[in-house]
Amino acid sequence: MTSPANAPVTATDPASPPPHPAWLPPEAFRAIGARRVLVHGEGPPVETVHDEVARACARYGGRVERTAAGPVDLVLALRDSGPLPEVVPPAARTAPDPDGGSPGDEGFLLTRSDGVTIVLADAPVGLLYGLFHLVRLGEAAFTGEQPARTHRPALRRRMLDHWDNVAVHPVMGQVERGYAGGSIFWRDGRPRGDRERLRAYGRLLASTGVNAISVNNVNVGPTEALLLTERLDDVAEIADLLRPYGVRVHLSVTFAAPVLLGGLPTADPLDEQVRDWWESTTRRVYARVPDFGGYVVKADSEGQPGPFSYGRDHADGANLLAAALAPHGGVVHWRAFVYDHRQDWRDRTTDRARAAYDHFAPLDGRFADNVVLQVKFGPVDFQPREPVSPVIAAMPATRLAVELQVTQEYTGQQWHACYLAPWWHEVLAFRLWGPGERSVADVLADVPGPGPRRGGDLVAVANVGDDPFWCGHPLAQANLYAFGRLAWDPRLDPTALLDEWIDLTFPASTVGDPTLVRETLHAVLDDSWRIYERYTAPLGVGFMVNPAGHYGPGVDGYEYSRWGTYHFADRDGVGVDRTRATGTGMTGQYPPPWSQVYESLEQCPDELLLFFHHVPYSHVLHSGSTVIQHIYDTHFAGVAEVEAMRDRWAGLAGVIDPAVHERVTERLAEQLRCATEWRDQVNTYFFRKSGVPDARGRRIH
Ligand code: GCU
Repeated sequence: MTSPANAPVTATDPASPPPHPAWLPPEAFRAIGARRVLVHGEGPPVETVHDEVARACARYGGRVERTAAGPVDLVLALRDSGPLPEVVPPAARTAPDPDGGSPGDEGFLLTRSDGVTIVLADAPVGLLYGLFHLVRLGEAAFTGEQPARTHRPALRRRMLDHWDNVAVHPVMGQVERGYAGGSIFWRDGRPRGDRERLRAYGRLLASTGVNAISVNNVNVGPTEALLLTERLDDVAEIADLLRPYGVRVHLSVTFAAPVLLGGLPTADPLDEQVRDWWESTTRRVYARVPDFGGYVVKADSEGQPGPFSYGRDHADGANLLAAALAPHGGVVHWRAFVYDHRQDWRDRTTDRARAAYDHFAPLDGRFADNVVLQVKFGPVDFQPREPVSPVIAAMPATRLAVELQVTQEYTGQQWHACYLAPWWHEVLAFRLWGPGERSVADVLADVPGPGPRRGGDLVAVANVGDDPFWCGHPLAQANLYAFGRLAWDPRLDPTALLDEWIDLTFPASTVGDPTLVRETLHAVLDDSWRIYERYTAPLGVGFMVNPAGHYGPGVDGYEYSRWGTYHFADRDGVGVDRTRATGTGMTGQYPPPWSQVYESLEQCPDELLLFFHHVPYSHVLHSGSTVIQHIYDTHFAGVAEVEAMRDRWAGLAGVIDPAVHERVTERLAEQLRCATEWRDQVNTYFFRKSGVPDARGRRIH
């Protein structure tokens, strides 16, 4: 059996068969394809709409036209593209939506009267989003009367960052933290040239609402640096392919580019020549890619160059690039993932979890308008459980992006079924200033209220590769889907999103037993993130993974390393003291009430206890269990639950596409093996440290 360590790279070449249709199989378009459709308007995304409808009609017996020649069932029309077809009722021509809003740059208005479904948009991409909304509705889009309703994305930028390398990195490979084969963009130092796959990808992204991607790794190597200058054509080609899907291309750049590419003696952000170099380079980028999105920068982080080398700070660095981008409407996503990655484990005063706040909060108010400070959702690093980053509440004068990780670096690397939308939902719903106050989603969506009013983006590290199922694990497609939908509307419910994904990916007419399919997918995925949490690092302590690869257990793997991620287990207890009273003081980075809640041993939520406190094994949780018994119980339970997942999945044999069934079966077997290893190593480790036996007498090694 293959395991992550020896898995073959499931590469396909440009001539290979098209990848799995994911959530857009032809059948998902049946309701539209069976109708008489009028598409009115111009612009690349309108052509995309027309082509989608035409393909569906050819398959399901409908027809599509550009000017009304007879009765129609569906109109998809741009409002400012000449006189609207007669069939559009007068009320729908202006904005009759009760909330008074117009569709704007990306929205659409949907209504249905007299047997005609009408989608109106002000901009071509709005029409595309309207089409995919109809795909989600299916037959429901063509029944009854429906009052006009405007749909608009809550967030302006909904972005996926690809950590894809152009040249294969000797340690990180073609895709850093990629678990789905090779890159869809690059291969062995060159563009991959699989135009069909990129179009299919653009289509999947547009259908969820994603409107921006960056096409190379935040760790920018010498080959990747050239994308900004002499290899700009490679970027332009991707932009051309994705433009019809409303997706803008961004580029990760190195802060040292003026030295590396421009031959200058310095990259000092306050140097005149450096400023000129960025300006002229950026002008050339826009001359080639007029709708270029902007730059993503990882600076002074994990060895990447940055402004510190010149005695400047992150605001100086970010504003330099922002000034070059501003005349063209571009933005710089400046990452806040800055910490000391050469820490001495003996040094108890340095706390990696404090670092982003300590670096960036004092700079609030100094960033240019087109700087977006990109903050990982938690203070450490995409762990299966962390508190929300205190930076998000600390920068009222700065535009923010919250960064999630769709690629499952720390959540089972697409060998483990782990539906992450419930976790992201918790993060987005977290009320930064306490119950009743604004949430992370409210800040990003600029919902009125006290606190930051700059709005923001939702960004995630992508999980796709050239694997036939896009993501390695076919069920990891649900994470990609849910991310896009949550970025469109962060209030959406994760369980409802899973239903959407199931309906589209496994249309009832294509599977043997639709009810069984739905129930099984819910049984496997609904609680899968919490199950993963149960069999891995306990109570928010994080980072008990194998070093470097980050797959499987390595309880002490990082304990004496330089990376700043320690659990401090000894014979008496475990956890990191981040209190103001006796620890690193990180609890003080939160506004009230969280600064008190996290400080207090009595109030701190169980799931974050070991993130904020060092406690004896005998400490009693709110759940009533001791810490040590909780560790044993959750690890035994987690493995039993994976067994149950595997057994449930077996029941879909012969009911769904055998290729999907087989791939998931293979992955669940590996998940069970790995979860068992986690259970036994974690339980044994803590039994040996503490000497406390399992109260239920189960086997610990
Ligand atoms: C993690 C990950 C790295 C990545 C880094 C980042 O630490 O392991 O591979 O480069 O995050 O977000 O920049």
